[in-house]
Amino acid sequence: MKEKLYSIKARASFKGKHLSGAERIVRESEIETVLEEIYKKVRRKNPDSINIKVENIEEKPLIVDKTLRLKNFSFSNHIEANEKAVEILHIETGISKNILWKLIEEVHTGAAPDKENMRGAMIVNQKGERIELDRYRGIRTTTVDFLDRKKVLKKLLKNGYTERTLDALALTTKNLIYPDMIAEYCISDEPDYTVGYVSTKNFYYRFSPLKEKGNTKGGRIYFVKNSIDIQKFYNFLQKKPVLIRDVNI
Ligand code: COA
Ligand code: AMP
Repeated sequence: MKEKLYSIKARASFKGKHLSGAERIVRESEIETVLEEIYKKVRRKNPDSINIKVENIEEKPLIVDKTLRLKNFSFSNHIEANEKAVEILHIETGISKNILWKLIEEVHTGAAPDKENMRGAMIVNQKGERIELDRYRGIRTTTVDFLDRKKVLKKLLKNGYTERTLDALALTTKNLIYPDMIAEYCISDEPDYTVGYVSTKNFYYRFSPLKEKGNTKGGRIYFVKNSIDIQKFYNFLQKKPVLIRDVNI
């Protein structure tokens, strides 16, 4: 890739409270068009403030061939779905089911110390301990996108998925390429969006529904090895540019 790459990050808030965010990695020639797209996207929830940042990416991006492989699970309610999620996470992480239920409960009831949503993800080691450096902020995965976002979106839409899946898949695919990351659990903090996911090294398990309708709480849990170097982990998830070629359906 000869042309310079740029990261575009946008976030919208209302009275200081985060409403939505979006990001892209694009070529210089695409900046203007994408700025308009991204602005339209983040203004949807009537924010009183929008922050958009355009930065040149100096570091060579890591190119990933495919996202995690998509698999769908449908359940009659979120409790049954979480039982299956706990089963998968227990096998993958070795953490007891009791501890996994407690961690998941935290996400469903507000995982920050003030019982609000965290601003990023919780990090949990194989002993079931929370090891993120700040329990309000957690860790946020950024600087990831698709090489050809439009092509991948078209493919997902054709298969019955949404743009949300596209973003979630990009984020979690970046997470899971980190060698010390074992699995991820995610539910949205939007009260009407009940679909969630569990990711492992190979699969993105999309659960419908993984949370109760009307619940304003949500969050992510990143399950990692005990031996992880936490600073290096933060650095990779926040800074390393990652571009994904295609989706694995
Ligand atoms: N939830 C709550 N607050 C958030 C937030 C979030 N998701 N993202 C940013 N903020 C607020 C926080 O107060 C944050 O301060 P903090 O670092 O102390 O928590 C402040 O905004 C500044 O955050 P910063 O990380 O500097 O913002 P940014 O403009 O660089 O990036 C996002 C913001 C929303 C683009 C980024 O956090 C993000 O979530 N990207 C989405 C990744 C993604 O989906 N990629 C897939 C693309 S295909
Ligand atoms: P969302 O998928 O945007 O509905 O976010 C669900 C939850 O995931 C939020 O409440 C945050 O706790 C967390 N989160 C949001 N953005 C990120 C991110 N970029 N990386 C890690 N966690 C995030």
